[in-house]
Amino acid sequence: MPQFALAPSLWISGILLTACHSTNARNQAGVVDATAPQEDSGELPPDTGPGAHAVTYYGDVQPILQQYCVRCHQPNGLGPGDFTDPVTVDLLAPALLGAIDAGRMPPPVADPDCQPYSGSEHLRLPTEARDVLSSWIDGGQGLGDPADAAAPVVVETELPDPDHTIQMPEPYAPTFADPENPGNEYRCFVLDPGEAAGKYITALAPIVDEASLVHHVVLFSAEESQLDPEALDPQGYDCIGAMGDLGENGMIAAWAPGMLPLHMPEGMGIRIPGSHKLVMQIHYFANGSAAGAVFDQTSYAFMLSDTASPLVVEPVGTQSFTIPAGAAQHTDGGTYPNPGRDLRLVGVFPHMHELGTGFDMRIKHDDGTETCLVQGNYNFSNQLTYQWVEPIAFRPGDTVEYSCTWDNTAGDSAVGYGERTDEEMCYFFTIAGP
Ligand code: HEC
Repeated sequence: MPQFALAPSLWISGILLTACHSTNARNQAGVVDATAPQEDSGELPPDTGPGAHAVTYYGDVQPILQQYCVRCHQPNGLGPGDFTDPVTVDLLAPALLGAIDAGRMPPPVADPDCQPYSGSEHLRLPTEARDVLSSWIDGGQGLGDPADAAAPVVVETELPDPDHTIQMPEPYAPTFADPENPGNEYRCFVLDPGEAAGKYITALAPIVDEASLVHHVVLFSAEESQLDPEALDPQGYDCIGAMGDLGENGMIAAWAPGMLPLHMPEGMGIRIPGSHKLVMQIHYFANGSAAGAVFDQTSYAFMLSDTASPLVVEPVGTQSFTIPAGAAQHTDGGTYPNPGRDLRLVGVFPHMHELGTGFDMRIKHDDGTETCLVQGNYNFSNQLTYQWVEPIAFRPGDTVEYSCTWDNTAGDSAVGYGERTDEEMCYFFTIAGP
């Protein structure tokens, strides 16, 4: 009923206006580039080109939103607005297209043309899909026939039948009390590995409880002696610097909405030492909810094995860089020579802080050829572990070359390495095994 749908939609337009804080078009790599000339659209066969048939909401637009937007933009989702509601979509269509063309939405991820990774088909919007939305707007935004509506795309983000699950000890309601990060909270929960202690994790995925709050989840393993006694509080502790404290030798995986479960290659796994605790860092996002009002009790699910060929998560990165004040596109990085063993690279988690805009990592082979590993536009709010479709050989004589790009246009001082969010990092946590 339009009367019901309209009121929330108007409220949402208010939210959208205030949420459009980032106006940088980040078209470095891997994002739809609206300014690029369209190829010969006059040459397209009559039944495939835009305008060949009237583009409608039900026939064309809804399936695209289902595939690329709705997992976040639905009631109780992370993003504002219900994009399953035709009235909302009709009202906000230009804002949707604007967010896509500016490279903000869907949140930037790595470019699968550099190296295919699992789940990219759900995470990245193809240019053709962007063009359908724009043709719909140009053609007057017809609704079409609900009978043409495609079945919703269901993305399986959880492990169907996990061997073991660890859960936050108690429900926790974020307070968003940090004045430096309004509306954001980084909370860590120390969890007993239980059955996972001394075993190998062969697959893993979080079970997100309150999807409207959870922006990302990072899992670490740590010696109990590495943790402060107050870290054991069942209500967790503030841990904005966890990546610096625990990442260097305890990173396991990072998840952001839309990511698929990670499955290690056959016979391989990440070992959890018997003496370790697991630490789950959750980035909560206020998303219109009041401090202390909404509770979350997220879990992490694992497949386990007693034996496996051990995978390690190697922090490949540099601490020696300085991003000058006012620099728009500052790039720095380093190299990581193969240590003299035949290795296989399984996946990577690129990590920077809020100034990060781009990442690039590739293998230079000793014969002069190269293999692109991961490349794309970076978004601090959308940090993912990219798992390659096939493990990648990293041989003696090969060297990994990596670089990070930052935007410090708004900064009036230079920024260097550090754990605080107003300092920067350049890491590629790389999952590797023999
Ligand atoms: C992974 C979750 C996620 C996906 C997928 C996603 N969004 Fe968003 N979206 C958000 C969040 C969170 C916000 C609010 C915070 C922000 O602006 O970053 C947002 C904000 C927006 C806004 C308002 C702010 C702005 O930047 O213009 C628009 C419009 C939008 N999204 C459109 C889309 C469209 C269109 C798609 C699909 C092509 C999409 N989103 C996919 C999470 C998502």
